Amino acid sequence: MHSKKFWSLTMVPQSLPPSRMVPLGMLLGLLMASCFTFCLSHQNPNEFALINSEKSSTKESERKETKAEEDLDTEVLEVFHPTQDWQALQPGQAVPAGSHVRLNLQTGAREVKLQYEDKFRNNLKGLKRGRRLDINTNTYTSQDLKSALAKFKEGAEVESSKARQAEVKRFFRPIEELKKEFDELNVVIETDMQIMVRLINKFNSSSSSLEEKIAALFDLEYYVHQMDNAQDLLSFGGLQVVINGLNSTEPLVKEYAAFVLGAAFSSNPKVQVEAVEGGALQKLLVILATEQPLTAKKKVLFALCSLLRHFPYAQQQFLKLGGLQVLRDLVQEKSTEVLAVRVVTLLYDLVTEKMFAEEEAELTQDTSPEKLHQYRQVHLLPGLREQGWCEITAHLLALPEHDAREKVLQTLGALLATCRDLYHQDPQLSRTLSSLQAEYKALAALELQEGEDEGYFRELLASINSLLKELR
Ligand SMILES: *[C@@H]1O[C@H](CO)[C@@H](O)[C@H](O)[C@H]1NC(C)=O
Ligand SMILES: *[C@@H]1O[C@H](CO)[C@@H](O)[C@H](O)[C@H]1NC(C)=O
Repeated sequence: MHSKKFWSLTMVPQSLPPSRMVPLGMLLGLLMASCFTFCLSHQNPNEFALINSEKSSTKESERKETKAEEDLDTEVLEVFHPTQDWQALQPGQAVPAGSHVRLNLQTGAREVKLQYEDKFRNNLKGLKRGRRLDINTNTYTSQDLKSALAKFKEGAEVESSKARQAEVKRFFRPIEELKKEFDELNVVIETDMQIMVRLINKFNSSSSSLEEKIAALFDLEYYVHQMDNAQDLLSFGGLQVVINGLNSTEPLVKEYAAFVLGAAFSSNPKVQVEAVEGGALQKLLVILATEQPLTAKKKVLFALCSLLRHFPYAQQQFLKLGGLQVLRDLVQEKSTEVLAVRVVTLLYDLVTEKMFAEEEAELTQDTSPEKLHQYRQVHLLPGLREQGWCEITAHLLALPEHDAREKVLQTLGALLATCRDLYHQDPQLSRTLSSLQAEYKALAALELQEGEDEGYFRELLASINSLLKELR
């Protein structure tokens, strides 16, 4: 943003009541427009002291200072008479009460016109996205202006640079602090929260078209990536509105609601908890279990993954709700079998997550017994075996893509303890492993010839070798 541009407005005497500070800051800014370069060269207090010390040597700064002093000495303020059009304010001009003053962010010039637009229109403008710098000065008279000027002069007349610096500090608060206040009070910024409320209202409104609803969800997804935003979404009931969107009869609404949820759940325990309470898990599973477009199922699977990861309570509920059957049907269904690798990756993540929780508890003795307790109630591996995931995973090894095979191989490894006897009895599995072993031996050799001694194929070959060894 043009923050530099309004720094010159931010010097405000501390002795004034806070409510008046910023508009007066604005007026001072106007005064200082008369010494714009002066102000700019004094943004840094150290620089301020240096340039204003008696020993200040450069002709340039002396000239500027003199000019500034002259301007400040002007007893009679030239008062600018605004019209209905925006006009640039000249250095040294003051504006009468009731004028409308703005900073033109393109040119850096202050512009003035008669106070014309009514409050309603101003408010509407304020609702638009982005910053708006539009300051109403109607509480200020030229008397205020003069006393502010007098105060500024007092500060300017202190001789010693050190005393002066202290004086400046007393009158003028740190730029950053003022800038912040200035932002808060004068520059209307639509906060992320306001944007999310607007988007949720758009989505929730029965008068919005399907396109508008989808667009609102699409925009919302961007905001909920931020953890704070996703939690704010909870605070006004927005999350539940999106969860209910999963019930829509429109597949696109389901799809984009899942898109938003996937982003909102991601590594955000607070949101994950609320979502499970809000029935998100059932709704996601219902979509996966019923006839829906593949694109919708993809996003829903993604949302399910982010809801389950690192959240053992949701994993328990998932198992209770028959989630493993739902996923099994999904990967066996012709139209959705392309999702199989993602599903297997999810299962791998859940298996290893639980394993790590056990290991971590063992290593650190007692860190969070509650977490471990939660994980111990996730009876994932027996469920996987019962639901036929040992066989399903083994068959997926026939997939042609290397990265798919990589995921399947690591899942086979993670399921080894649970599925060992079933793997042993599966003649197809050892045939597939042997043929892959030959294939990756060749590829790893090529890789080595090309100078890669820590190659990808070599790693795949290593996992195949160790599986074969385990199953021998
Ligand atoms: C969504 O709409 C329903 C019905 O129109 C309303 O009751 C509910 O308060 C709205 N929710 C939000 C968060 O705006
Ligand atoms: C949403 O769908 C689920 C399952 O299809 C159903 O149980 C629930 O009552 C529905 N909720 C709403 C608000 O329509």
